[in-house]
Amino acid sequence: MYIVLCTVFLQHVAPSGYVGHIFCAEIFDKFASEFHAEESKRNLKILDMGCGTGLASHILKERFGYNNLAALDVSEHMLEKAREKRIFNRFICSYVTNKRVNAIQSAEFEGLVSSAAVTPGQIRPEAFDEILRWMKPGAIICFTCRHDAYVSVEYGYQAKFNELQKDKKWTLISNTETDYYRHPRANEFSHSKTRVLVYRVLPF
Ligand SMILES: C[S@@+](CC[C@H](N)C(=O)[O-])C[C@H]1O[C@@H](n2cnc3c(N)ncnc32)[C@H](O)[C@@H]1O
Repeated sequence: MYIVLCTVFLQHVAPSGYVGHIFCAEIFDKFASEFHAEESKRNLKILDMGCGTGLASHILKERFGYNNLAALDVSEHMLEKAREKRIFNRFICSYVTNKRVNAIQSAEFEGLVSSAAVTPGQIRPEAFDEILRWMKPGAIICFTCRHDAYVSVEYGYQAKFNELQKDKKWTLISNTETDYYRHPRANEFSHSKTRVLVYRVLPF
């Protein structure tokens, strides 16, 4: 069993050694399985925010059977690559900031995954009010946040996440430190580790 799991894991390691998307998908599925029966879990309407080429969603679809996946990215080029994977049923090209994304209705999604996009210079803490607008009560939000960015007061991620918790917008379910890269020299990178954060959206 252990060998099978290792083989499955290794199949998804990116050529750069990047593995954050694997943990993001696995941890999302762990909690979705806790909160939903197997059949309804697969039909959850999930948004992959900053999907890139769709690495995390590829695992959600192929390994865990999710079949209602939407792709969001600011880059048309990335969305084109994601389209080729034939795993998404919707594509949204938008920049995620504190501004309203008109293509997304309020309370549309029941789950969100995001790997390697909630990070300085990409999706900033102040975007989370808008992100929460998209989510149904009870929705599971699972994203990576590079460990060095998460612990930095300057970037403000933890402060924003705690504010949303204090305001009862969401509740923290899990905060795990995992590898971001598996690479012989990963320890030399300031960003070799990531947090994988899981929140559950609270009723409005
Ligand atoms: C490092 S890549 C990660 C891609 C993918 N999630 C993965 O795990 O391989 C970050 C992606 O987020 C997108 N992105 C960055 N900032 C964004 C923003 N503010 N709004 C929407 N997409 C953004 C980029 O275009 C890029 O495709």
